[in-house]
Amino acid sequence: MSTAYTELNRFVKEKLPEKRYIHSLGVVEMSMELASRFSLPVSDSACIGIFHDAYRYDCGSGTPSFCRAHGIEVFPEEEKEPMLLHGALAAVHFDEVQGPVPHSWKVAVRHHTLGHKDMGALGAVVYIADYAEKGRKHLDDEERSRILSLPTLEAMVMHIMDMQRAYFESKGMKEAGVSEELYSFLENGGRFA
Ligand SMILES: [Fe+2]
Ligand SMILES: [Fe+2]
Repeated sequence: MSTAYTELNRFVKEKLPEKRYIHSLGVVEMSMELASRFSLPVSDSACIGIFHDAYRYDCGSGTPSFCRAHGIEVFPEEEKEPMLLHGALAAVHFDEVQGPVPHSWKVAVRHHTLGHKDMGALGAVVYIADYAEKGRKHLDDEERSRILSLPTLEAMVMHIMDMQRAYFESKGMKEAGVSEELYSFLENGGRFA
């Protein structure tokens, strides 16, 4: 593991409750597997994975304006439910915790919750791992294997979104606009950069 990962891991372990920290380790493990399989930078995927939920418990009513002041576009669903901005907070704080990090790391953590057509391949990796890491109890091993059996990151994200759509429908909830946009992008053959 890189020095950056070691430092981020120390920071996150101290900051997060144990359960969320263990989830973060699960995301790291699956992210590294996916990155390796799709020829993406494995150590970058580990740093993104360990940090993605670092600010999960730091959101409040002031978070939307804080994010906007740092140049982040806040979507209407995030305005209503600031907890959804924990990835955006992680993106804002990434440099100060770790020194200058690549832009792709910030984009990936920023969009890990609702997804975004411009989240990049590393963003897709953390999105998939966040949903399907081995500690997640909302899917069984068969469903996890089904996701991993798909041939591309795009197919995996679409499959996850299909499951989320079914869940939202059953609860009478509406998908975020930015997620709908991602789904149409993928339906039309869009690829993550
Ligand atoms: Fe998250
Ligand atoms: Fe997460």
